[in-house]
Amino acid sequence: MNQSICNKVLTIAAALMGSGLATCCAAEPIVIADFEGADFGNWKVTGDAFGAGPVHGGLPNPWRADLSKPVDGFKGRGFATSYHLGEEGIGSLTSPEFKIERKYISFLIGGNKDLDASMNLLIDGKVVRVAGASRDLPEGSETLVPGSWDVAEFTGQSAVIQIEDPTPTRHISVDQIVQTDVNPPPTAPPTPKLQLFADARRDFKIEKRYLHIPIKNSPPARPIVNTTVDGKVVMKNTIGLADGTPDWWACMNVGAWKGKTLTLQVEKMVAGSKALELIEQSDSIKGADTLYRESLRAQLHFSPRCGWNNDPNGLVFSQGEYHLYYQLNPYGCDWGNMHWGHAVSSDMVHWQELPIAIYPHAPDDSVYSGSAVVDKANTSGWKKGPADLIVAAFTSTARGECIVYSNDKGRTFTEFDGNPVVKHPGRDPRLLWHAPSKQWVMAVYDEDAGKRCIAFHTSPDLKKWTYQSRIEGFYECPDIFELAVDGVASNKKWVLTAANSDYRIGTFDGKTFTPETAMLKGHLGEAFVAAQTFSHDPKGRTIQIGWLALHVVGMPFSQAMSLPNQLTLHSTPDGPRLAWSPVDELKSLRAKSHTVGALTLAPGAPNPLAEVSAELLELRATFTPPAKGEVKFTLRGVTIIYNTEQQDLAVSGRHVAVPLRDGKIDLTVFTDRIVFEVYAAGGQCYAPVSCKPDPAALGAEVSVTGGNATFQKLEMYELNSCWTKP
Ligand code: FRU
Repeated sequence: MNQSICNKVLTIAAALMGSGLATCCAAEPIVIADFEGADFGNWKVTGDAFGAGPVHGGLPNPWRADLSKPVDGFKGRGFATSYHLGEEGIGSLTSPEFKIERKYISFLIGGNKDLDASMNLLIDGKVVRVAGASRDLPEGSETLVPGSWDVAEFTGQSAVIQIEDPTPTRHISVDQIVQTDVNPPPTAPPTPKLQLFADARRDFKIEKRYLHIPIKNSPPARPIVNTTVDGKVVMKNTIGLADGTPDWWACMNVGAWKGKTLTLQVEKMVAGSKALELIEQSDSIKGADTLYRESLRAQLHFSPRCGWNNDPNGLVFSQGEYHLYYQLNPYGCDWGNMHWGHAVSSDMVHWQELPIAIYPHAPDDSVYSGSAVVDKANTSGWKKGPADLIVAAFTSTARGECIVYSNDKGRTFTEFDGNPVVKHPGRDPRLLWHAPSKQWVMAVYDEDAGKRCIAFHTSPDLKKWTYQSRIEGFYECPDIFELAVDGVASNKKWVLTAANSDYRIGTFDGKTFTPETAMLKGHLGEAFVAAQTFSHDPKGRTIQIGWLALHVVGMPFSQAMSLPNQLTLHSTPDGPRLAWSPVDELKSLRAKSHTVGALTLAPGAPNPLAEVSAELLELRATFTPPAKGEVKFTLRGVTIIYNTEQQDLAVSGRHVAVPLRDGKIDLTVFTDRIVFEVYAAGGQCYAPVSCKPDPAALGAEVSVTGGNATFQKLEMYELNSCWTKP
């Protein structure tokens, strides 16, 4: 049958179906939603996850560049997704009522593989069919794949479809929901067909410190790997094992079990996999020869040796060392298997990675974000020996907010036997000593009130905690600190902030934060999440590090931390505002300086930075731009353009509003292999922007259009890598 005859037959069949006479063949499909319009039409939208309408192209407005991924597999231009705020949005989309008139409802669906976010068919208010995404986000792209429900038994009944994303850690994407008589065969199987072993295992007589485990960055499956010693599961991790040549080797620290037999038991391993056979024991770290020199390894920013990191945790200074703990997946380049990784530094610039500091307490537990302080007065009574007593708080996903302490300079921690100290739907405890009320405070993300809040609890001794108050409107990873406005000690204000770095300024009496401002914008870039400030900086500064949520693929690591930035509060006509400036310690990286000094730059003038040639650069400039024109910096092939009329700074195409101050712009830029960090307007505009400059582009250039620019300062520094010893 040719196509037009076939269409006609279908149309006639549909007409007959409508009149109840069709019995012989498939009726024309009925499109319930194709998400091609600018909005959701008569679908009901709740919450913020689905935005105002369907999206076109990739996942929308992600503030985590690591998850900014193209999407394919949808039909036409648009599809619906709950990714409008990244994973954090919650909400639902509900169709108008429709009558079930075909045997199947087919659709295209993607997102995280979890029925937390799902598409449901409801009849009489009851869920009768559920569909979830068919796989987790693979590296590089997210594909919507076909799915369908057999709904023949509901023929003639009224139904609605509800797409819901009720939790802030998932997303779902849907397109092309169609009633059809033809059950569509899945055209693109979500994952290669796997033959699974029920129980693959290998025993190791432990003689060395490490097991080297072969890892694939985009594995066809991530099986659960149980580590068993003396018949007890001591660790449970989800690991993308490499069946053949690995992308990199993860290092499992097994030194504690020397002399014992340790078993790795893999739940559902890919048939024929050689992964277990490839595992080696060793006392040294594999790949140490290329370590920190990998092509996409940030050279000014900390990143763990291998695996995935997200939030900085437990930033604390003690006895000459800055400690940086962080959310770490030691066994994969994406999120999962959360431990506290650990690095130390004397200057926050040159870091030394140490062994994992906090492991999950039990196989089904994870160590989520938290903070650390020094209990100088030994209020807890846990101090033993000469080392500072470092106390950390973190979220144990299985238990609640937990307290641990260290008497060995933060290397290892002991559990407080009263854990968990706070139990609630929430996470990410931030500890601080509130001197005026002489008590410990825990600011913690909390959903107890059914809303996204920061809750405050207090304690005299870090053991007994009392709930005090809550403030709405903040999401994950709270931080709270006091700063002197313009450095005036008699005018101090408290700043309350959370994972996206937006903040409110106000007062804090140790129990309640009373805001004096609305929510103010934090960083203006991308890829800056869950920042935290150091406790006890020896110079009394407030120094913040954030997670640079980048998208680095093909490496044994995939994320990094921001530069350490000093935070200050400055008066503005609108009230006090935060400013970020890279810490002075970074000056130790300066290798060569190009100080151009004061200069008037005319359009077409020779490039005053012509002699610069390095991949790691620091630009410091103050200039009066032409009234109607642009000043353009090209650093390592990446453009940073100030447009005076728009008062706009375009960093590699990303627009940041930067107001002129006294007719001038001040600009600081650090260039690294995967990110540029940009500071302007006295640091009130801070924008980390993901950039991957061409390794061959080493120069710098500045030019002007539309009139002259007067530079009061133009300095460029070629920098050393932070991975070379100072
Ligand atoms: C923020 C966050 C935290 C949580 C951690 C888990 O990025 O979601 O709320 O503790 O990451 O890794």
